[in-house]
Amino acid sequence: MVRAVRIDRHGGPEELQLVDLEVGDPGPGQIRIRHRAIGLNYIDVYQRSGLYPFPMPLTLGMEGAGVVEAVGEGVTHLKEGDRAVYCGSPPGSYSEARLIPAALVCQLPDAISFETGAAMMLKGLTAQYLLKKTLPMEGLQQGDFVLFHAAAGGVGLIACQWARLLGLRLIATAGSPEKCQMALDHGASHAIDYRQEDFAARVAEITGGQGVKVVYDSVGKDTFDKSLECLRPFGLMASFGNASGPVPPFAPASLAKKSLYLTRQTLFNHYNTRERAQAMADDLFSVVASGEVKIDIHQRYPLADVQQAHRELEARKTTGCSILLP
Ligand SMILES: NC(=O)c1ccc[n+]([C@@H]2O[C@H](COP(=O)([O-])OP(=O)(O)OC[C@H]3O[C@@H](n4cnc5c(N)ncnc54)[C@H](OP(=O)(O)O)[C@@H]3O)[C@@H](O)[C@H]2O)c1
Repeated sequence: MVRAVRIDRHGGPEELQLVDLEVGDPGPGQIRIRHRAIGLNYIDVYQRSGLYPFPMPLTLGMEGAGVVEAVGEGVTHLKEGDRAVYCGSPPGSYSEARLIPAALVCQLPDAISFETGAAMMLKGLTAQYLLKKTLPMEGLQQGDFVLFHAAAGGVGLIACQWARLLGLRLIATAGSPEKCQMALDHGASHAIDYRQEDFAARVAEITGGQGVKVVYDSVGKDTFDKSLECLRPFGLMASFGNASGPVPPFAPASLAKKSLYLTRQTLFNHYNTRERAQAMADDLFSVVASGEVKIDIHQRYPLADVQQAHRELEARKTTGCSILLP
């Protein structure tokens, strides 16, 4: 038996309950991993609340790091005793140990701690596919402006550093002066407190009226319309989250004035086969192991305090990455 955090119905943080679960042995293509650290992500909130509905009961959690305890038939890239790290479906990482499809699990390099591994996969791979693969028609060149919302969050602080590495000028938005300073300290070229300032007006000022080539928008409802204003002609609106609520239906004609492109991206269309998962992870491992991208874990919670962790994440009280410790 292991301790795990389960919900029996969608709802608020009070639905997160510690229970004892049977884990069992891995089937074909699966491994059993014993977690040393667990990543906390905003997607966990959507899965808990029902914005992304799931059959019940559900053990939450999409990211973790630990030690491989057993491997199922056909698994060749992992063995018992390996340090391992993963992100992806099905949820279930809010637990001391679990079964998971091995295809999404990678060996964790010795240079990277379990805590860093658990914090960085889902968020780091998201920053990576956004900045490297979610691009305007003509790509992104050194010196180009992009706008990145919620830049002091988990994905955000990694994106600030990776954008600097790529030579991009990342204009950050964040919800307080302290968060703005944090984004600047991590490589953003400019930062806008979007709770105090009109971010579209500031972007126009910063870019000399040109606008940015891409907006990376995980805030959703509250920022979508104004984000379109920030784009230059043929720019790309890359929507990838709904922290403030889902974007309501809108008229495609609103893209016409500047011939804008719109995409709604999801990590798990990129990170979905053994080969792609490993290639993406190797790229992340390399920038983290070299120190070019630092994984800032600003919140650590015992697994039993998961309700508090969700409350703080939803209340915009966290910065950088958060982990749960089993
Ligand atoms: N599609 C994908 O592939 C993918 C993958 C990973 C993450 N995501 C999305 O990326 C975003 C960041 O994920 P994360 O785990 O790193 O979380 P996070 O950024 O650490 O936390 C969310 C942040 O969103 C901002 N926010 C703005 N309005 C908000 C509101 N009304 N309620 C709550 N937060 C609000 C807050 O920062 P401020 O106070 O600075 O505004 C908050 O700290 C999430 O929307 C997540 O769903 C998408």
